Amino acid sequence: KKGSYEHFMQKEIHEQPESLTTTMRGRLIRGGSCNAKGVLLGGLKDHLKTIRRSRRVIFIGCGTSYNAALAARPFLEELSGVPVSMELASDLLDRQGPIYREDTAVFVSQSGETADTLLALEYALKNGALCVGITNTVGSAIARNTHCGVHINAGCEIGVASTKAYTSQIVVMAMLAIAVGDDAISSQSRREAVIDGLFDLPNKVREVLKLDDEMKDLAKLLMDEQSLLVFGRGYNYATALEGALKVKEVALMHSEGILAGEMKHGPLALVDETLPIVVIATHDNCFSKQQSVIQQLHARKGRLIVMCSKGEASLVCPSGSCRVIEVPQVEDCLQPVINIIPLQLLAYHLTVLRGYDVDQPRNLAKSVTTQ
Ligand code: UD1
Ligand code: M6R
Repeated sequence: KKGSYEHFMQKEIHEQPESLTTTMRGRLIRGGSCNAKGVLLGGLKDHLKTIRRSRRVIFIGCGTSYNAALAARPFLEELSGVPVSMELASDLLDRQGPIYREDTAVFVSQSGETADTLLALEYALKNGALCVGITNTVGSAIARNTHCGVHINAGCEIGVASTKAYTSQIVVMAMLAIAVGDDAISSQSRREAVIDGLFDLPNKVREVLKLDDEMKDLAKLLMDEQSLLVFGRGYNYATALEGALKVKEVALMHSEGILAGEMKHGPLALVDETLPIVVIATHDNCFSKQQSVIQQLHARKGRLIVMCSKGEASLVCPSGSCRVIEVPQVEDCLQPVINIIPLQLLAYHLTVLRGYDVDQPRNLAKSVTTQ
């Protein structure tokens, strides 16, 4: 079943051009002489009005599924104008946080069986919210018990570390944002640009996967480190959290995803010439802020690995003293799909080099069905 690959995680990372193609199949409308470009999500079409009119959208999930929702949040806020809040399922349950009839609660789960997410679903149903599922598993508890939803159709994911489900979840939530925002003429050109970006995304993913050897070399350099920080912001705050989660989960190396805007509020104290730091600085509306973060880390002799858009190495590292990972540039809201892939590859190679179990990390289960 692994074909020519040694591990399921490796196979699942490399099959992302295909899994993303299946996720989008039949759901993107190309547009033409009589109809505009658009998105068709069969499971949501009768509920879009309710979602548009809701007072708030709440994304609820755990682990990687939460991170995927965090990556999609800015685009949904932009296109819907509805406030979007984020909840880790366990924290929502601990607090018994307020949920109302006027809310849309979106449950994101690869397996559709995660105990905390399911309990949060029961709680939101009891409070009268519209409950939407985004899951990879047809017939799962979350798919069955939500009012409506979207299957991400990424194909079976076997590695405990979620990889292809993450990128498909982001793409489904970007399509959801387009569908919800479909009634606004003012954002039509933006929606169409993102739809074009979605059509081209599998090709861009194929391109970024060519960094495999480069990531293996980087892993060789980092394999004996104790810790790795990942700085991101905006669309790529989620990339920082998810990259760090992959590294700690499979490579068993301490890793922390940090919101770059918080740097001066504590994390900067950690910076010295030994601690490796990945900074995500691909081109978007936060670019100049990330350039100044890089300068400040550099001034403290930080050991930087900067991820930037192709051709922009000299803009992020004028001194030439940091290591640079150049990735293809796509629409800003889709960039998290591209940017996570080098970090998935890095986590994979670190795990192999450190001699740990890739597909079955110690102490973890693929589906967390107990609290
Ligand atoms: C559906 C079919 C697909 C077919 C397509 C043709 C299924 C599972 N999908 O896909 O095989 O090719 O029509 O038009 O038969 N749902 C939830 N909660 C969730 C996920 C989904 O309630 O978490 C519901 C949806 O609201 C929908 C149904 O499950 O009623 C199927 O969802 P989805 O597979 O995403 O719908 P389509 O893409 O239309
Ligand atoms: O099946 P789910 O998406 O609900 O699972 C949620 C988390 O348990 C899961 O994403 C976990 O964080 C992964 N092992 C991360 O790779």
